[in-house]
Amino acid sequence: MALGTIYLIALCIAAVFILLSIRVLYFIALFLLVTFLICFFLSMVSDGDLTLMLYELIGNKGDNMMGRVVWITGASSGIGEELAYQLARKGAKVVLSARRVNELERVRGNCVRFPEVREENILVLPMDATKYETHGQVAETIVDRYGKIDILINNSGRSQRALVQDCKIEVDKAIMDLNLMGPISLFKVALPYMLENNYGQIINISSATGIMPAPLSSAYCASKHGMHGFFNSVRSELSYRNIAVTMVCPGPVVSNIVENALREDFTRPAAKPYDGTADRSYKVLMSTERCAALTVVAIANKLNEVWVARQPILLFYYMAQYMPGFTKWMTPLIGRGRVKQYNQSQAQ
Ligand SMILES: NC(=O)c1ccc[n+]([C@@H]2O[C@H](COP(=O)([O-])OP(=O)(O)OC[C@H]3O[C@@H](n4cnc5c(N)ncnc54)[C@H](OP(=O)(O)O)[C@@H]3O)[C@@H](O)[C@H]2O)c1
Repeated sequence: MALGTIYLIALCIAAVFILLSIRVLYFIALFLLVTFLICFFLSMVSDGDLTLMLYELIGNKGDNMMGRVVWITGASSGIGEELAYQLARKGAKVVLSARRVNELERVRGNCVRFPEVREENILVLPMDATKYETHGQVAETIVDRYGKIDILINNSGRSQRALVQDCKIEVDKAIMDLNLMGPISLFKVALPYMLENNYGQIINISSATGIMPAPLSSAYCASKHGMHGFFNSVRSELSYRNIAVTMVCPGPVVSNIVENALREDFTRPAAKPYDGTADRSYKVLMSTERCAALTVVAIANKLNEVWVARQPILLFYYMAQYMPGFTKWMTPLIGRGRVKQYNQSQAQ
């Protein structure tokens, strides 16, 4: 994104130069314009923002994860599970947390099957992200076992599929409790150990909905926006203490997220897919492996915010960032279509 901003500025400068028609500067302006067009083309064929793509090409691939103590929440399925495999294989000491112990044990079993992963480097610590009073004990157990917490990956989360007018306030609150207050609580229990060690990385698995609106997901969207507000402030406050914050914003990724989405009230079953996004072959879905691999690049290079999505979804990130007015005009049109589609699918 930093690159995107630079080239947007470069384009403006180029335009001014062309307007002024100063011959000698004309070629510089043309050069900047061509560079911008190349960047624009690259961003259209990538599945991550340009800075992330650059780091994937020439940055650290995760070799610096060796010996790092990484606490992953929501490690029992989806993105968290895959992050566990990839980080364990890079030599990290991985702590797996979520509610379902049997699933965590399955993930642990898969981890230790990799020949490069040592059994003592994978620890299962079940935890409910909404039971804040238990978080301190989990952090203490990690430090007792490994001596420190280097990296906290706030990944636990549930999505939402509900019309805002039908959604009970209790459901909105449950989503906030899990997706926003959970990560804040976990951060607060891990932070003292990080400060003591003078090293820490907080990785927050946000979403595309952390930076743009989404119909049928008002509370989910608010929880992810809230994550950005809180943790961007943390970064500004604590970077001088060597605490880095990375916001990862995936688009649609293969996982159980749609099946686990909350509905209007707790009595309704988990969401049934209404737009094909739960179909594993849906064309905009990114594989879990790819999402985790790009997240590892972001962690290894301490990037501030990364966008991880296939096209044309990624294009919306750029629009939300660089054309906010146009995006605000356009999203109600998309929303209207989505609501219609949702109502039709529920009527069937
Ligand atoms: N997949 C996508 O398209 C997508 C896109 C953007 C962002 N994300 C974000 O990615 C993160 C991971 O989601 P996913 O796609 O991998 O979905 P997933 O397969 O449904 O995984 C969700 C994880 O969260 C855990 N979890 C749920 N409630 C919990 C609780 N109360 N306490 C502790 N852990 C809890 C689940 O474990 P237990 O049930 O065992 O507790 C599970 O491991 C979420 O934050 C989600 O918002 C996903």
